[in-house]
Amino acid sequence: MSERTLVLIKPDAVRRGLVGEIIGRFERKGLVIDALALRSMDGELADAHYADHVTKAFYPPLKDFMTSGPLIAAIISGDEAIAVVRTLVGATDGRAAAAGTIRGDLSLSNRENLVHASDSPESSAREIALWFPEF
Ligand code: CMP
Repeated sequence: MSERTLVLIKPDAVRRGLVGEIIGRFERKGLVIDALALRSMDGELADAHYADHVTKAFYPPLKDFMTSGPLIAAIISGDEAIAVVRTLVGATDGRAAAAGTIRGDLSLSNRENLVHASDSPESSAREIALWFPEF
């Protein structure tokens, strides 16, 4: 079933010049880019986007990181896109993520892990409404 998912290419990826590499992996898989924008996250948007995490110990440094510079927000679609994108992205901790995944190949961090991708149809709908209300 075709689905849409919300992807953020995080400030570490923009700083490291990895945007093309990461988008290229989604495109080569056969996924479609429905929306793509250079954006930034302010504190208010961070708190809304990471509503499930705001009380966690790792949230304050995560918020500092996510608001530290420009990022890319994208809507990506395709057959089972939510799960497919998360498979391409890999496990949260880049040190443990499988080789062949974006994080496994390109990140050594649990926080600066290059990409965020929606984890369910509910979070995809919520995050797309937050980042691209016109959709
Ligand atoms: P993301 O997929 O954007 O969802 C929540 C983010 O919190 C995650 O990627 C990481 O950037 C960060 N994160 C999750 N767990 C930890 C942790 N234990 N320590 C530091 N950062 C974390």
